[in-house]
Amino acid sequence: MVLVLDFGGQYSQLIARRIRECRVYCEMLPYTTSLERIKAMNPKGIVFSGGPASVYGEGAPRIDAAIFELGIPILGICYGMQLMAYTLGGKVDRAVNREYGKTELRILKEDQVFAGIESPTQCWMSHGDFVAAAPAGFEVTAQTEHTPVAAMADYQRQLYAVQFHPEVVHTPKGQEMLRNFLFNVCGCHGTWNMGSFIEQTVKEIRERVGDRKVLCALSGGVDSSVAAVLVHKAVGDQLTCVFVNHGLLRKGEAEQVRRIFSEKFKINLVYVDAEERFLQKLAGVTDPERKRKLIGNEFIYVFEDEAKKLGQIDFLVQGTLYPDVVESGTETAATIKTHHNVGGLPEDMQFELIEPLRWLFKDEVRAVGEELGLPAEIVWRQPFPGPGLAVRILGEVTRDKLDILREADAIVTEEIFNAGLNKQVWQYFAVLPSMKSVGVMGDERTYAYTIVVRAVTSEDGMTADWARLPYELLERISNRIVNEVPHVNRVVYDITSKPPGTIEWE
Ligand code: XMP
Repeated sequence: MVLVLDFGGQYSQLIARRIRECRVYCEMLPYTTSLERIKAMNPKGIVFSGGPASVYGEGAPRIDAAIFELGIPILGICYGMQLMAYTLGGKVDRAVNREYGKTELRILKEDQVFAGIESPTQCWMSHGDFVAAAPAGFEVTAQTEHTPVAAMADYQRQLYAVQFHPEVVHTPKGQEMLRNFLFNVCGCHGTWNMGSFIEQTVKEIRERVGDRKVLCALSGGVDSSVAAVLVHKAVGDQLTCVFVNHGLLRKGEAEQVRRIFSEKFKINLVYVDAEERFLQKLAGVTDPERKRKLIGNEFIYVFEDEAKKLGQIDFLVQGTLYPDVVESGTETAATIKTHHNVGGLPEDMQFELIEPLRWLFKDEVRAVGEELGLPAEIVWRQPFPGPGLAVRILGEVTRDKLDILREADAIVTEEIFNAGLNKQVWQYFAVLPSMKSVGVMGDERTYAYTIVVRAVTSEDGMTADWARLPYELLERISNRIVNEVPHVNRVVYDITSKPPGTIEWE
């Protein structure tokens, strides 16, 4: 295991990502983590991330100098390097020429970190301060035009540092340098994979839970599904999953969850049919945010009711992912939509949290899901909003509209899947804008609903572009919807990117 200590740098997460790409397990913790905890974790190496501060700034992040005496190899990056230099008695100065962007790096010594890398090589710089003189015991191992100490190393203590960012793609050999540090200096083997992750996590959960009871709110989405199966593998019947069917799900979804979790994995599943309860709450409600709030709150009430029936529960499983952990720490963005409200659990519930996916990225979660034997229909599911179809029906949500939308949506899903595009397109679904228009069918005038088809490509849902679906595919979708779904006579395709649109219509 390798530990990344985060000093608040914008690329910290990327460092963790790159280390994992070398098949070395790593965790990232704030720089304030105590020395005792670090020692207890027994990492094979430590990486100090970059950060926005100057070592001379007021309240600048500092580090206990004893960390350098632990005998654990350390790699300092950018601020991490300056801090290393400063703490060990080197000289850090404010740069007259701030270096930013692609820069030529001259390697002065092909040591373990620079092994096999030709000089000069390109690197990515982004700093105001720089190390003017390396501390005693260090050798300068690379330079750039404006940075006399672009890299340094103390071979005795196994301390390495680079001023540039090896983790970004603009340092083309950066990944190799990181790999060199991990393999040549820390002695990592690059054998970490999803199998070992599962084994280790199952063992940890088992030890922590003992013979106590665990609860999980299962949504059928990738994250909660993988988390549930993982915890089930660890504690078996001590886990109970609660699945709330709020009646706003897609066609066949509730049955699918029952089939997979109850029948295939033999997980204790409490299936709550709360459709009526939710529809009653939603009657007459048209405002998007009000819908979300109502659904979110109702979800909590239903969940609480069920939890109470189960008696003493000590732990709650949550499918929190690494990007969520990072985001929730830095989130300052304005509320465009109150996302992730469903599944947001009551604050006064007294549980200890189990978050087995806390260190994983989405693609890793999918790999774990596959390894655990979850079917592709779950592992490769597209994201689906907690409030479900309620935010895809504009205006009031009724049972009739839900039935229409469900049928239309199933056609969109099926056709995109059959065209083999389901992994390339980020989300694809139908929207019911509750708008009627005139048409003609079998020589008769019709006045019926319009269905909007929405399909977008995206990396993370933050920005998106409309998917350039083949015309023939759109044609098939359109024909099938008007022919097979009653009360629909028109299909349109949404060609708005995000921004300015959002992925969902509400
Ligand atoms: P937007 O519509 O904001 O959506 O472009 C971005 C991503 O978030 C999903 N989404 C939600 N997820 N609760 C959720 O759990 C919500 O209320 C919600 N609204 C949007 C959306 O499907 C897309 O993946």
